[in-house]
Amino acid sequence: MKLAVIGTGYVGLVSGVCFTLNGNHVICVDKDEQKIEKLNRMESPIYEPGIEALIEMNLREGRLSFSSDLQESVRRSDIVILAVGTPSLPGGEADLRYIEGAAAEIAQAMEGYKIIMTKSTVPVGTNERIRQLISSLTNHPFDIVSAPEFLREGSAIRDTLHPDRIVIGLDNQALEPTMRELHKGFTENVFVTDIRSAEMIKYASNAFLATKISFINEIANICEKVGADVTEVAGGMGMDQRIGATFLQAGIGYGGSCFPKDTNALIQIAGNVDYEFKLLKSVVEVNKGQRFMIISKLHESLGSLRGAVIGIWGLAFKPNTDDVREAPAREIVEALVAEGAIVKLYDPIAAENFRKEYDHPQLRWCGLAEEAAEGSDAVCLLTDWSQFKEINLHQLAGTMRRQVLIDGRNVYTKEQIEGTGLEYISVGRPQ
Ligand code: UGA
Repeated sequence: MKLAVIGTGYVGLVSGVCFTLNGNHVICVDKDEQKIEKLNRMESPIYEPGIEALIEMNLREGRLSFSSDLQESVRRSDIVILAVGTPSLPGGEADLRYIEGAAAEIAQAMEGYKIIMTKSTVPVGTNERIRQLISSLTNHPFDIVSAPEFLREGSAIRDTLHPDRIVIGLDNQALEPTMRELHKGFTENVFVTDIRSAEMIKYASNAFLATKISFINEIANICEKVGADVTEVAGGMGMDQRIGATFLQAGIGYGGSCFPKDTNALIQIAGNVDYEFKLLKSVVEVNKGQRFMIISKLHESLGSLRGAVIGIWGLAFKPNTDDVREAPAREIVEALVAEGAIVKLYDPIAAENFRKEYDHPQLRWCGLAEEAAEGSDAVCLLTDWSQFKEINLHQLAGTMRRQVLIDGRNVYTKEQIEGTGLEYISVGRPQ
């Protein structure tokens, strides 16, 4: 099949590249000409392990191309996939400006039947709005499909090629075989439903995962007070298949471009129909507070932070990405600066992005984790990059001014800490 994918962010670029792997021809479209030039040079605008090799292979083999000409790309395609951003408006609602702009342009380009498939995360009812908008601009026939995306940054290619499930929302049942064919080879678990339910599945899934995280973080906070170990608790809970073992890692809370945005949007979606989503509001509240637990722990160990030197390990919202959007590190670093600390920052790849968003004379940028720890009163681990597990903690302790290690992601075991001389403080585990 011939596809045009509108938007070359995480969702658009990764899906576009992956759809070439099961035999489709894909044009990835973006308004940003610089992005398109970069992609044509086989450079990815996003950091995602494995993506550049796939871009190169598929460009060479002629199954993939990049264009900033939306209308021409639409004309050459059978299926048009909407994968543009839906950022948050100040009140939390999803901003549909890019979706509507792209839909209008698609309508203007149409010269015959098209399937228009939405992969962007959009509030319930948006696909129907898209249908009305396109119908008002063209007489050509088309169908609308909602196909929400569940990929994670850092494992986006694997998640797309081997997803737990594919959700397809449609109202023209005749499209089901085409949709199955489009996703051929990815998974047998194709869940076909109506359009509104498909839109809701995306929000409900992200909200549920965010709930699991806030839930285990609150359990961790209680564990600290009653002397239990949250990693043991999560291990024992997770063996119950009804609960599941994943997304029960306690820490400083979730960040990223999806959970914060989608939880707020779902609260708004509910609010718009006069329903107060109390549980989800608490999930968001708990998450906002959890990151500041790092600051409280620093106070407990060091007292005042004025003039203290604090090393920070990890600025990305999670490992294997350079994405710092809504990263808990941001507010933690800002709070440290406000309290008068000197902050030494290290991240394997996200430091540049972080610095573009926030810099301050009290910040020191470090090229190595060890450098950020040297001369520090405390080191705070904020992102669970695997390289932090390999650091020689014995040596490290000797280079610090005071030997405090705050592990915001429960990366280390007791055995790794024993004998290092470090005062080790983690989340929800006995010290
Ligand atoms: C998330 C979902 O996992 C994807 O299924 C979804 O497609 C995506 O949002 C989206 O809507 O586009 P992502 O934001 O890439 O994916 O990252 P996750 O791996 O889910 O992690 C999100 C945050 O939760 C990170 O800050 C991570 O550190 C935190 N987390 C995750 C925890 O604190 N504890 C856990 O047990 C798991």
